[in-house]
Amino acid sequence: MISPSLLSADFAKLGQEVSAVTDAGAEMIHFDVMDGHFVPNITFGPMILSAIRKDSRLPFEAHLMITQPQVYWKAFATAGADIIGFHIEVDIDHRKLASEIHSAGKKACIVLNPPTDIRSIENILPDVDIVLVMTVNPGFGGQRFLESNLEKISWLNEMRKKKRYNYLIEVDGGINYETAALVKRAGADILVAGSFIFGSKNYAETISNLKCCK
Ligand code: DX5
Ligand code: ZN
Repeated sequence: MISPSLLSADFAKLGQEVSAVTDAGAEMIHFDVMDGHFVPNITFGPMILSAIRKDSRLPFEAHLMITQPQVYWKAFATAGADIIGFHIEVDIDHRKLASEIHSAGKKACIVLNPPTDIRSIENILPDVDIVLVMTVNPGFGGQRFLESNLEKISWLNEMRKKKRYNYLIEVDGGINYETAALVKRAGADILVAGSFIFGSKNYAETISNLKCCK
């Protein structure tokens, strides 16, 4: 599945961009929410998400790169996010948050940064619908894919077979045709791609090639 990251879309016409990638064959829409604390950048909040909810029928995922996801997740859920992603690096009760998100009828996604040990998320694996492996340091689009994270994807793939967990594996950062093939081979199910899709001339062609390359 392909989830275009709006971080690289034209912010002056977000609604049209969302609807264009929806028509171009995307399966989800990825919202990079940044607070200037957890990452050195600021993007948008729930009001923007709500404003463009009508422009797509696809599931919206809110990737919360913020220090207080436990305070703000509900605002994104109310605005129309279907999946809430929160980082293992924030010091909160992650399992409690996953359970609150589920109680609201939404999907929970745990995210980990490139320097973070995969073992740090082991305890929460039974409680999440998606595990998002960052393959760049969060904060900006257009960075180079960090290959050392491929091992995490393979580990997650093995782990779900061994323990019969149901989570999907998602990858975010530096995705292009080459890196898409690598992460798919390692076991990834969902690919987030920002600059590669929105920087391309033909969204439909790029999305379809991202899906088919092996
Ligand atoms: C980085 C974001 C990513 C980013 C991906 O902080 O989480 O979603 O937009 O952008 P590309 O695909 O350009 O690496
Ligand atoms: Zn993201």
